Amino acid sequence: AYVVTENCIKCKYTDCVDVCPVDCFREGPNFLVIDPDECIDCTLCVAECPVEAIYAEDDVPDSQLDFIALNAELSKEWQPIIEKKDALPDADEWASVTDKLDELQR
Ligand code: SF4
Ligand code: F3S
Repeated sequence: AYVVTENCIKCKYTDCVDVCPVDCFREGPNFLVIDPDECIDCTLCVAECPVEAIYAEDDVPDSQLDFIALNAELSKEWQPIIEKKDALPDADEWASVTDKLDELQR
């Protein structure tokens, strides 16, 4: 499955959502995840994300490995998002910030 990683936090641009053929994105307050049981590995979402937050599970950087389990966990708690919406208000300011995991709202 594909995995949403830290760069998405507090940005949530949602361009990824529009291209997913199986609607497997799930939405939290300031982050999206992919339901690993639904993703068909089509790769389409990767190029859509302006902050390059999405990786194939096998390509997730070492610093982001916790996000594999986090996508699996949170996708069972959060609701589907199937249409693009406005990014979060300060998305452009947060786009270049690293170590944002503490900002994740559940
Ligand atoms: Fe959806 Fe394809 Fe991205 Fe998986 S890889 S989340 S199926 S767009
Ligand atoms: Fe997040 Fe990128 Fe999608 S910022 S909402 S993974 S387009």
